[in-house]
Amino acid sequence: MPEDELAARWAARRARTPVTRDYTYMNCGWVGPLSEPVIAAMRERLELEVAHGPTTRHVMEDGRERQDGLRRAGARMLGADPDEIALTGNTTEGVNIALAGIDLAPGDPVVTTNLEHVGGLIPVYWARHRRGAEVRFVRIAGDDGPGAVVEAFDRALGHGAKAVVLSEITYTTGQLLPLSAITELAHARGATVIVDGAQTAGHVPIDVHALGIDAYAVPSHKWLCGPSGLGLLYVRRERIPDVEPSKVSGRAAASYDYEGAFEPARDRIAKFEVSTLPSLSVAGMLAAVEQYLEAGPDAVWHRVRELNRRAESVLAPIPGVRVLSPRRDDSRSGHFVFAIDGLDPAGVSGWMQAEGRVVARSVRQHGAVRLSLHVYNTDEEIDRVGALVRRLAAGEVGPERLATFAPAGPEA
Ligand SMILES: Cc1ncc(COP(=O)(O)O)c(C=O)c1O
Repeated sequence: MPEDELAARWAARRARTPVTRDYTYMNCGWVGPLSEPVIAAMRERLELEVAHGPTTRHVMEDGRERQDGLRRAGARMLGADPDEIALTGNTTEGVNIALAGIDLAPGDPVVTTNLEHVGGLIPVYWARHRRGAEVRFVRIAGDDGPGAVVEAFDRALGHGAKAVVLSEITYTTGQLLPLSAITELAHARGATVIVDGAQTAGHVPIDVHALGIDAYAVPSHKWLCGPSGLGLLYVRRERIPDVEPSKVSGRAAASYDYEGAFEPARDRIAKFEVSTLPSLSVAGMLAAVEQYLEAGPDAVWHRVRELNRRAESVLAPIPGVRVLSPRRDDSRSGHFVFAIDGLDPAGVSGWMQAEGRVVARSVRQHGAVRLSLHVYNTDEEIDRVGALVRRLAAGEVGPERLATFAPAGPEA
């Protein structure tokens, strides 16, 4: 695809993303901004429900069509089949369903990394707390390349590991982990691979079938820039029967009566879906996935890493700035993570928002600020962030004053 056509594609996406008119929005790794097609789809569905009522036959049919459309579009995005896709509330719910659903006996090892979000980490700790699993950590440093990461997994897996829970892209450092090699190793040892894809859907191309992943959970509201309240869980067809749902409703029943007869729907992915789904979020997420597929996953991945390299070239040379996201192309993503010596990251991100309308976030665990760079961002925006960081690094705002800009609560 010629460069000027791609540039026009990203400019059009920016023009359809209202927040970019007033803000330099670099926080889709937390929640992405809505764009016009997503807003229009949600509005259309809302108006339908308002005018005709939510349970009128054609409105119900519209809802079902959108749900099926989302399963189909989600399957295309993930490299799966629609009957391997469950609609969930978010990534964390998907990870919980998968991990709670597999057999774990006391002492069974579960492998995870030191860079997980609480959405992956706490379900792993819960498996230890409730089921006596042994938790094994893979310690990953920001400058570890894929080879070092795979070696660390190899050591942690040892023998007898039952499950691996990991983010394909870490939210702290934006590191792309070598999922294919990790999955191959884990499967060779008989472990189930559960992927936290909170930072991947809408960001990096995903192909769960090609990789043989067992379970992969993604959200609507981050890099896909869909509404909140919805996510997808992929479970590999052969694994669906042996993953036990922990919350169930009618979709988990193959048959039942009111006298005690009941047959579970063991091999139906919908057994993981509980009751009523949020119709507006379904409409919005479907539009968001379609927008992403139309933009082209490979083109998006190429562009966000181009923006990351741009950020590196602008920010890395500033005295006092340390880059914490990977500088190697085999691990680089759209997240650019940096720290300024001696300055509190929550104050830095708060000040950048107050002073320059830059919306980013701090990552306290690493004393860093994270810029999530998406296709609606521009080189000029990165230059503006560079100018703000230069002022901070030069000592224009002292630590005490900077602290007044930090948000009151944690940036979790
Ligand atoms: C790696 C990772 N996992 C899980 C989550 C939580 O995502 P969700 O709100 O979809 O459960 C986040 C959110 O930032 C994340 O970065």
